[in-house]
Amino acid sequence: MASKRKILVTSALPYANGSLHLGHLVETIQTDIWVRFQKMQGHQCIYVCADDTHGTPIMLKAQQENISPEQLIARIHQEHQEDFKAFAIGFDNYHSTHSAENQALSNTIYYHLQDAGHISKRVIKQAYDPIKEMFLPDRFIRGECPRCGAADQYGDSCEVCGATYSPADLKNAVSALSGVKPVEKESEHHFFKLQDFETMLQQWMQGEHVQREVAHKMDEWFHAGLQEWDISRDAPYFGFEIPDAPGKYYYVWLDAPVGYMASFKNLCDRRDDLKFNDYWQADSTAELHHFIGKDIVYFHALFWPAMLQGAGFRKPSAIHVHGFLTVNGQKMSKSRGTFITARTYLQHLDAEYLRYYIAAKLSSGIEDIDLSLEDFQLRVNADLVGKVVNIASRCAGFIQKKFDNRLAAALHQPALYQDFVAAGKSIAEYFAACDYSKAVREIMALADRANQYVDEQKPWVLVKDGSRQAEVQAICTTGLNLFRVLITYLKPILPLTAERVETFFNIPALDWTNYSAPLCNHQIQDYQALMTRIEKDKLDAIVDASRPTTPPAAAPTPAATSQDPIAGEISYDDFAKIDLRVARIAKAEHVEGADKLLRLTLDLGTEQRQVFAGIKSAYKPEDLTGRLTVMVANLAPRKMKFGMSEGMVLAAGPGGKDLWILQPDSGAQPGMRIK
Ligand code: 2FM
Ligand code: ZN
Repeated sequence: MASKRKILVTSALPYANGSLHLGHLVETIQTDIWVRFQKMQGHQCIYVCADDTHGTPIMLKAQQENISPEQLIARIHQEHQEDFKAFAIGFDNYHSTHSAENQALSNTIYYHLQDAGHISKRVIKQAYDPIKEMFLPDRFIRGECPRCGAADQYGDSCEVCGATYSPADLKNAVSALSGVKPVEKESEHHFFKLQDFETMLQQWMQGEHVQREVAHKMDEWFHAGLQEWDISRDAPYFGFEIPDAPGKYYYVWLDAPVGYMASFKNLCDRRDDLKFNDYWQADSTAELHHFIGKDIVYFHALFWPAMLQGAGFRKPSAIHVHGFLTVNGQKMSKSRGTFITARTYLQHLDAEYLRYYIAAKLSSGIEDIDLSLEDFQLRVNADLVGKVVNIASRCAGFIQKKFDNRLAAALHQPALYQDFVAAGKSIAEYFAACDYSKAVREIMALADRANQYVDEQKPWVLVKDGSRQAEVQAICTTGLNLFRVLITYLKPILPLTAERVETFFNIPALDWTNYSAPLCNHQIQDYQALMTRIEKDKLDAIVDASRPTTPPAAAPTPAATSQDPIAGEISYDDFAKIDLRVARIAKAEHVEGADKLLRLTLDLGTEQRQVFAGIKSAYKPEDLTGRLTVMVANLAPRKMKFGMSEGMVLAAGPGGKDLWILQPDSGAQPGMRIK
């Protein structure tokens, strides 16, 4: 075997303000498979992660819950760890960015950068909420887009026309926290001079540390020119105070990647065989691999290597970027029941089904990957249950009943076995290159061959012939040995199943080096069912449980005129069942073949809904885009000829041109409940 490598691996640190969802799991599953594969190769591969605990959203969420940020992050830390464990994510350490190690390392890095002249300070003006007495991050300022006039846009970019701008350019801006107009206030900020590292970063980029698509993106950034990065935030802020700068805190993204180092340091302090400097000193020969989503490349491919270089540490060996997860071809959505948390999934299905499906879809590129629930069910049932497990269940019964669980002294077809062993080379290359879909395709082709072999040999026929018992034993021994090789190859993806198979075979842990000789003349255990099929009702239950829990929808009422008699009295409780929300019309479109309907995409702040509204006679789509309106948010989705309608907008008037949608005063925010 080639020499033993030292490899440190990380996944992006999840924010400590919410539950893990399937999007997080794509990344940790991808990373975990890679780590397990490297461990099976005999390398020293260490996988660390942590919760990303700092910043304004976490501070505000704790305030909302009336608890301290420390209490909030402790609760979430527990929850995240349990969820990851249930998905068999084998971290060597799961730490927190709110830790002594992280504070010390962040300060070390900061001091080094400062001493080397890479930190500057200057006074800047920023939006300040006079009621909440705090500076407002761009995302907490809403107003009209300076370019297209769309209402209710974030402080940094317009979701309607795509413009990017500074919050000061927004028209009629308000604080999303208090609703009041922000004032401009000055304060001194600390900046990291990223541009000092441009040459180094360009060289580093050329060294094959990032995928091709990522290098292209970085090229664009280099052409646009690198800018100083604002790394400080004013109190109140949940984070680490900057040394010698009272009331100033590191911006969360400064200490977040340092959390990788801190988690590793925390592990080193508990393990004699690991030395922090071996992995982090500038001339380290160990490898450092970061797995991240494509939304945070700037931080990992520019800021992070520059910080490390500036502070005298080594730079990453590789940044592995993956795409986003879509479910049934669309962005995950609460109303569609496709915003699926780790917990909800686990209440209904086995973690390894998802691990397998994600692996089967992942390539080494950065394109998005889709979890089609129907395809998920078909694929897992066909591949894992129908092909892989089927080989064992077909052969194990005979070995148990007829041969007292004893494998034959020799294989029936040693050459076939050797073919399976030989395939390990290319499968290993696919795993190493993060091309899991190709590894899975090759493993399943082998599973087809193994099934074909058993089909051809027909042990169930031979067993009836008393003179051919030895043959039956040799055939079933061959089938089980082929199965053992398949499980070895699948072990990075299905570690829990692999453990059960090791118990069944009475063997030590399978790895990439110990299966070239077949298992013969060996006592195995009784076979226990390894996996069952995914039934559709389980998927339906996951989707149902992932929809927002709202009371039953009220019946829709037609638009009314002033002549309509007032409807019969209802109780307050009846009224309270209707969840009316402020929504922003993100998009309005004609619907081909529909005389009366427009297709509206309504933005509720946290999610988007598609609603078909009978207002075509009164509005041109372009006049609606960007406007605020009112929608019934808990109306049961209705399947219409043109698609699903996920709610209803309210309009008044007799019809035709005389139809008016409701429009709240400016200041109302998408998602606000109308009471
Ligand atoms: O985007 C995110 O979810 C961040 N919490 C990721 C941080 S990764 C690392 F840099 F800490
Ligand atoms: Zn705009």
